[in-house]
Amino acid sequence: MTDSDSPVLVIGNWKMNLCPQAAFSLAERLAVESRSLRKSQLWLAPAFPSLAALTSINNLGAPQFQVGAQNVHWENSGAYTGESSPAMLQELGCTFAIVGHSERRHIFGESDKLVAKRALAAETSPLSIIFCVGETEEERKRGETSEILARQLGALFDQIPSPNRAKFVIAYEPVWAIGSGQVANPADISSAHQVIRDIWRERAKQECPPIAYGGSVSPENFSSIIELPLVAGALIGGASLDFEKLKEILSIAEN
Ligand code: PGA
Repeated sequence: MTDSDSPVLVIGNWKMNLCPQAAFSLAERLAVESRSLRKSQLWLAPAFPSLAALTSINNLGAPQFQVGAQNVHWENSGAYTGESSPAMLQELGCTFAIVGHSERRHIFGESDKLVAKRALAAETSPLSIIFCVGETEEERKRGETSEILARQLGALFDQIPSPNRAKFVIAYEPVWAIGSGQVANPADISSAHQVIRDIWRERAKQECPPIAYGGSVSPENFSSIIELPLVAGALIGGASLDFEKLKEILSIAEN
């Protein structure tokens, strides 16, 4: 954990899972759990069709319970078929959007530049941005992790030379750890987080925003990850779809 005053961020990325009714039911139970959170916050990113259902809970719920989108465009309107704008998400009640998730980069071919442009939403709207970075297995084997992180973050600084750090969370997600059950080891997580911190300080001339780790996080491994000094939270896929597992992760985050 980075700073005892900052909340632990437990971020559930539901990807393309759960139809709106199922998403609402799970989120409603989690929102109740979130009311007792003191040291952590639960942020949920359901699929786009479920956002309105979840933000209707958000409006009733506690400040520790935030809802956001899995992607965002940088313009507020225009001829961009299939996209959603910062203004649309904000009006729905979203408080954040994820950009650059490895599935967007690797399955849908989103480039460093495109991902970085999406992050402009943090500059032009109240949304916070979870900016995902991470190397593939081949890149790690070739010893290129730092170079890849510098390239992905470099694209961000090309678009926004001096980002408002209060509007950002960086998610370090090694691609090979996502959905594989193979969590990165603590030393690798720490060194990647340090690299990200150094790049941010050097390029933006300011402290780095909170960095969350993502990739096969579960109730079994969460404590060993969150106790690392530079880890401010976790971006969780599979385990966030399971009420009991997420509840257990939140209880670890609180203690
Ligand atoms: P996982 O997904 O927890 O299922 O590995 C993490 C993510 O893709 O954000």
